[in-house]
Amino acid sequence: MNIQWYPGHMTKAKRAMKEDMKLIDLVIELVDARVPLSSRNPDIDDLGAGKARMVLLNKSDLADEGQTARWAAWFEDKGIHVVKIDARNKGTLKQVQSVIQDACKEKIERDRRRGILNRPIRTMVVGIPNVGKSTFINSFAGKACAKTGNKPGVTKGNQWIRLNKTLELLDTPGILWPRFEDQQVGLKLALIGSINDQILNKDELAWELIRFLKKRYPQVLSERFGLETEGKEAAFILEEIARVRACLLKGGDLDVSRAAALLLDDFRAGKLGRITLEEPENQKDKVG
Ligand code: G4P
Repeated sequence: MNIQWYPGHMTKAKRAMKEDMKLIDLVIELVDARVPLSSRNPDIDDLGAGKARMVLLNKSDLADEGQTARWAAWFEDKGIHVVKIDARNKGTLKQVQSVIQDACKEKIERDRRRGILNRPIRTMVVGIPNVGKSTFINSFAGKACAKTGNKPGVTKGNQWIRLNKTLELLDTPGILWPRFEDQQVGLKLALIGSINDQILNKDELAWELIRFLKKRYPQVLSERFGLETEGKEAAFILEEIARVRACLLKGGDLDVSRAAALLLDDFRAGKLGRITLEEPENQKDKVG
């Protein structure tokens, strides 16, 4: 899904999010495990103030496992409960339910002290476009769940999915706006394919990826394309990829843009291996 964000659009989204927040006990925030910080909007810390908080490191099947573990520790350090998941794979969601209970311990205790027993936890899923919110809701809620309020004559208002006696999930995900104003963030979101390719130059994007891989995952390009990359410029390496993959224009010249698209597709599909684009160290952003 590609949404064009304008200031007015963001104000509207923020207002809607504020309203939804009034209804819930727990915020389940999805981030992309390959870019856990760039794929989140820190405004959620204000919007979700006073709520129990949980982060799901989604698409962890595509991310570097070591880095994902470090990111999990980074979020936990800030008092946020974390589970790494692949939203398409139900097996990875087993832990989510118990971590929800854990994240809401205080609320459950508060209810108990007031004599309120068995009031379900109300939660909603939030995140920037394309992090996997709908996929998660579908996998987590499944098809068999009853929709509360989904009766004849009850069409208005929010739809809740009753997952079990202890948990109700708002049926629609809350969409947060990405932090486009930070160029690095825009670049990383473009690399993972969350921003429309047409507004970015694919060749430049591919060069950025090559530079990053050379620095952090030096073996990847040689393994995938059989290239020697040591001491070579990104533009030269991209031409080499075009040559190796026979990306040619009609006259026989190299079709570098096709090679760029091919490299980006390989990266996004995980064919270059499990790669994380940012590390928890050197992150000054405050969370929680
Ligand atoms: P959104 O609601 O947050 O906008 O995201 P959505 O669920 O639509 O997911 C965006 C894309 O990410 C989908 O792919 C979805 O299949 C994929 N996805 C979601 N979770 C995971 C995950 O944990 N791992 C991986 N590898 N992919 C995930 P798509 O190409 O847009 O659609 P489709 O080809 O799957 O139909």
